[in-house]
Amino acid sequence: MKIWVSAALVLLGSMMSGAVQAQSSELYQQLGERSGIETIVEEMLLGVADDERIAHYFADVDILRLHKLISEQVCNVSGGPCEYTGDSMAVSHNNLGINNADFNALVEHLIAAMEQENVPVAAQNELLALLAPMHQDIVE
Ligand code: HEM
Repeated sequence: MKIWVSAALVLLGSMMSGAVQAQSSELYQQLGERSGIETIVEEMLLGVADDERIAHYFADVDILRLHKLISEQVCNVSGGPCEYTGDSMAVSHNNLGINNADFNALVEHLIAAMEQENVPVAAQNELLALLAPMHQDIVE
């Protein structure tokens, strides 16, 4: 009897943590999980590379590393099971001279990539709201 009760508790516990996890990672799922996020970030970076307003910022940047780090970050802030291993936004954008128009240009490419991947608009806005506080550390 005791064994059954504790087995039931373990089962209940895992169901509950599963429910909590599913709730907190709904955005992550809407972004297409890890592979969807990697595709979105790749498309965003391709758009950026083709955009003469901001491409120059990335001329000497290791794009594969940047792709990995931005993907980790988006995965992490959207509630996915990823750790962000890069520098802080303040450190990595320090002295780059990025202004509001540059920031908005990059966000345009992020939105275009999410559109391309059929991410629902509400989920797009949710991700943008999670990234918005980083603006103060990125723009000078
Ligand atoms: C919400 C917007 C942004 C996010 C989430 C973001 C995220 C990141 C991340 C994760 C890194 C890598 C950090 C590291 O090296 O450890 C990075 C680096 C970089 N970002 Fe951003 N970024 C944003 C906006 C921008 C904008 C608007 C620009 C320029 C137009 C920009 C230019 C760069 C450059 C040039 C680097 C490479 C710096 C280096 O390796 O020396 N970022 N960003």
